[in-house]
Amino acid sequence: MLLYGKRGEAGLMPGFPQLGDEELAALLNHLMALLKVRAEPFNPEDIKRERGQNLAPDRIQRP
Ligand code: HEM
Repeated sequence: MLLYGKRGEAGLMPGFPQLGDEELAALLNHLMALLKVRAEPFNPEDIKRERGQNLAPDRIQRP
């Protein structure tokens, strides 16, 4: 979602592919901390792996 955006009932959220792998991993870890999600932290490699798929925001859905 952070790389490609998301279109849903509330509108369109743009993607932020211009942010670096480190930045996006840090942002996701920050959100998880705020939301008290207990899970393995993201690392920059996780972000890198998801790049280059050129997904449209309409195709991004909740798991
Ligand atoms: C990098 C900063 C941002 C983060 C981390 C973020 C995060 C999120 C998250 C977690 C959701 C909920 C998605 C879901 O539960 O399905 C969401 C939805 C949304 N965001 Fe963002 N957001 C960011 C920036 C923005 C910006 C700048 C905009 C507007 C210009 C925006 C517009 C929206 C909209 C319209 C939705 C609802 C999409 C839908 O209807 O499914 N977001 N965002």
